[in-house]
Amino acid sequence: MKDLELLINILKQRGFVYQSQEIYGGLRGVYDWGHLGVIMKNKIKSFWLKDVVFKRENIFLIESSILGLKRTYEASGHLQYFNDPLVECKNCHQRFRADHLIKGDYGEVEFKEGKALCPICKGELTEERSFNLMFKTYIGPVEELASVAYLRPETAQGMFYNFKNILNSYRPKLPFGIAQIGKAFRNEITPKNFLFRIREFEQMELEFFVKPEEAEKWFNYWVEERYNWYLKLGFKKENLRKYIYPKEELAHYSAGTIDIEYNYPFGFKELEGIANRTDYDLKRHSEFSNEELKYFDEKNKEKIYPYVIEPSVGVERLMFAIFCEFYDEDEIEGEVRRVFRFPSFLAPIEVAVFPLLSNRKKLVEKAKEIYFELKNEGFIVFYDDSGSIGRRYRRQDEIGTPFCLTIDFQTLEDETITIRDRDTTKQERLKIPEIKDFLREKLNF
Ligand code: GLY
Repeated sequence: MKDLELLINILKQRGFVYQSQEIYGGLRGVYDWGHLGVIMKNKIKSFWLKDVVFKRENIFLIESSILGLKRTYEASGHLQYFNDPLVECKNCHQRFRADHLIKGDYGEVEFKEGKALCPICKGELTEERSFNLMFKTYIGPVEELASVAYLRPETAQGMFYNFKNILNSYRPKLPFGIAQIGKAFRNEITPKNFLFRIREFEQMELEFFVKPEEAEKWFNYWVEERYNWYLKLGFKKENLRKYIYPKEELAHYSAGTIDIEYNYPFGFKELEGIANRTDYDLKRHSEFSNEELKYFDEKNKEKIYPYVIEPSVGVERLMFAIFCEFYDEDEIEGEVRRVFRFPSFLAPIEVAVFPLLSNRKKLVEKAKEIYFELKNEGFIVFYDDSGSIGRRYRRQDEIGTPFCLTIDFQTLEDETITIRDRDTTKQERLKIPEIKDFLREKLNF
């Protein structure tokens, strides 16, 4: 998918994702999700939970708060280090990330006496200054007296400051993990590239605690596990690659990071990061809280700070990659067909049910009966009897519905329906009692 504008329009039109608060001009870098988008996000999250948490031993879930104390983010290093370099145009007052500006991300840059000029109006830019990416807020009714708090910039800190709670509750042995899915917030200087760099997003993060001497082994293990998960989701190998961070690009807590990158319409960029955070976080929280966040190693009879390996992915970035990966166009009867070729298990609507003709009572009744039966079985089903059958198929193709069932005159005679495959557009006849097993098999992740 190269035409981002077209993709954004389809996603909006068909109810996947909307610019937030568009009726007021829109809130930049913030998106709202429609019915289809919400279903897909929930499916993605459940596949992540299945793969990262439930199929393994010793991985514990947590849901920690979004609001965080100043002390927490002093300890984590985010108050000190979680900054981007900001420059502002003295003429048009547009703000830019200095590193992105130099890379040409805002367009070609002109220089005057060795200094970059504003890419919009060619005005002079201010000196570079550090801009902290955390959203600050106040807890308490009177702002001046209230204490400062921050919206979390990553879910990870909840796993670290709850480390002792998890040890006490479940007494796990190393290696073990704490996992979380939840919102995080970053006051990006210039949110851009649709869902790629946004200010409010969801993360799926695992903090996997290991013996320090085993950190490298587990780091490599998680890079492979996570890479393979994307293949299982249906991504093509050629659209994925691994990027090893050079030392100067590492986050303040990381001793090594590998990104799994996706080939977005603007090139390969991070989809998921796997970092070796060492014992940085547990040590810092121990120091700042005076609680010793150590693990007792029974074999060697000593307390240690485990190392932590962190696979971390943003749900919206992943959704964006999925939209790009599975969008396709072909031609049917001389007309361009727009189609999302989502794997069946990812499709928001799993099956659509149509009566061949909407003005034949018996067909409509039978179609409704099958529709409600499938709904009661837990399938995500859509009923449509408006317009020609061809148009109905096309509408389902555009939202990626893998199967459409049509109830026709033969159905009334022999209890069979046609099932049409989105990708081949071929139809076959199936007995009504066989539908559920057919769908279950196809929708399995
Ligand atoms: N926890 C890693 C990140 O938020 O980038």
